Amino acid sequence: MKKFFATLAVTLLMSTSAFAAPNEIVLPTVETGGNLSVMQALSQRKSSRNFVDKNLTAQQLSKILWAADGVNRPDGKRVNPAALGAYCVEVYAVTSEGIYLYEPTNHKLKLIAEGDFRSTTTTGQSFVTKAAVNLVYVENPDAWSTARKIPPRESQLANANIVVGAMVQSVALAAQTEGLGNCVRGSINRDEFKRVAKLSDEKTILLAQSVGFVE
Ligand SMILES: Cc1cc2nc3c(=O)[nH]c(=O)nc-3n(C[C@H](O)[C@H](O)[C@H](O)COP(=O)(O)O)c2cc1C
Repeated sequence: MKKFFATLAVTLLMSTSAFAAPNEIVLPTVETGGNLSVMQALSQRKSSRNFVDKNLTAQQLSKILWAADGVNRPDGKRVNPAALGAYCVEVYAVTSEGIYLYEPTNHKLKLIAEGDFRSTTTTGQSFVTKAAVNLVYVENPDAWSTARKIPPRESQLANANIVVGAMVQSVALAAQTEGLGNCVRGSINRDEFKRVAKLSDEKTILLAQSVGFVE
């Protein structure tokens, strides 16, 4: 019953987007059960580029964002490891409706820009514009102020890239459990995405990942 109301709330929030992208998407609680074991998911892992332009369900979107950067313990720590305990990578979800910033602590998506900006997350690979969601992983240098010990700038970026490696693999496995395809991507129109996502100059775009239904 609880699950029904959570799904209904998301459906209502998302349905208001027939004419406008919702300012906020409250994601449903992640269902962690499933039929696929981690070993099976690993055995099926691959890059997919044959996407079909179809929205994910609220639960699928919830699983993908949670795998990317969700909280998985009562003390607020997350699915993926964090160098020196600093959560230095932000996750942007770019859908047909808008650019959203994922807020891990309340498991919500906050609207940054309304419209279909999926093409700005690539330098021209056409499959990207069909993927239901393109995640963009961005290093936020301000986050290092919360680190147990503040490393030099060069190490901060190196650590952020390692963290993103864990994030994309978690998303790949979560996508696999839903029968969704994914493709990690380094070719991103960084200047354009920085502009449309209103990123400050200090932030660094590290990687992107397309996720969605495939043919
Ligand atoms: C850091 C990184 C960047 C990548 N960038 C792109 C990219 O921009 N476009 C793309 O289509 N695939 C990209 N890939 C996916 C690789 O092409 C793919 O993983 C490789 O060909 C092996 O295929 P598989 O993933 O199916 O095993 C990238 C992979 C990694 C790890």
